[in-house]
Amino acid sequence: MTSPDHILGGYPGTRLRRNRFSDWSRRLVAENRLSVDDLIWPVFVCEGEQTKTEIESMPGVFRYSIDRLTEQIKLAAELGIPAVALFPATPAELKTPGGEEALNPENLICRAVRAIKKAGIDIGIICDVALDPYTSHGQDGLLVDGKVVNDESVEVLAQQAVVQAQAGCDVIAPSDMMDGRIGEIREALDLSGFQHVQILSYAAKYASAFYGPFRDAVGSSANLGSGDKRTYQMNPANSLEAYREVAFDLEEGADMVMIKPGMPYLDIVRNIKESFGVPVFAYQVSGEYSMLMAAAERGWLDREKVMLESLLAFKRAGADGILTYFAIDVAQKLKDAN
Ligand code: PBG
Repeated sequence: MTSPDHILGGYPGTRLRRNRFSDWSRRLVAENRLSVDDLIWPVFVCEGEQTKTEIESMPGVFRYSIDRLTEQIKLAAELGIPAVALFPATPAELKTPGGEEALNPENLICRAVRAIKKAGIDIGIICDVALDPYTSHGQDGLLVDGKVVNDESVEVLAQQAVVQAQAGCDVIAPSDMMDGRIGEIREALDLSGFQHVQILSYAAKYASAFYGPFRDAVGSSANLGSGDKRTYQMNPANSLEAYREVAFDLEEGADMVMIKPGMPYLDIVRNIKESFGVPVFAYQVSGEYSMLMAAAERGWLDREKVMLESLLAFKRAGADGILTYFAIDVAQKLKDAN
């Protein structure tokens, strides 16, 4: 349906407004629909008990201690959200140049995964593979002479994936953008008996300023300081390069791919979905969330409407699912509408 032939017709015989006049008709001809099955909820975990702290730059988003987290995940599952993506706010004193805490089977994330599994909650658990929540320099990989080194980082990331799989995580989501990591992670998982653990690769992840609030949430912005991630995350100027990133990741064993950020990169979502026809996810990242929330708080935008419209736009672009901090709200809203 890419040729314009099927849309030929002309006024006054053709009136496109005819189909739009009534609600039933608009619903009938709607091309895309947002469903709870499209949602992945990213959640921040912190140490402590009965703790719930709001992230200043992300109004309405909290870090939960494990006990509170399980309640929240239970709610998400009850609402029908298929999966959650967990991110740790690692205590500063546990951060090191080598990010060793990432490999500790007792680290925050592993304990959180085990708690969710133990509670018997039927929901997919996605764990991020990258070192930035654990490194004192805030980079996703290891630093040698001030540079993020690739192969040495991949080795650690593969171990991190195995540790998370051992804790019971269902989906490994490498967000580090090192070359060759998907293949190494797949091999490491398989050798450890985790052939069934899925890989959702952050395949086309751009070096974006929209991640700012996330770095506040996991407490890595101070560590990163004036550093940036441009030697491994993609240049926002590039679109064709995304095909190669995705192709390599699929060849190396990725089950699903992700484009990130979301709204400013919907062209990439469309290209990748059309060219590869594999499950494609997009991440409505922290900065996108904060932008919408900031405007809504000022009364400049209608929060609920922009929330739903922005997520529908992901579907229209071809995304099979969306990681969004609005997930709980949206799921609730979709449920109320039924
Ligand atoms: C860590 C990671 C980041 C995000 C997800 N995983 C930040 C970064 O790459 O600096 C961003 C998510 C968001 O902004 O919501 N590698």
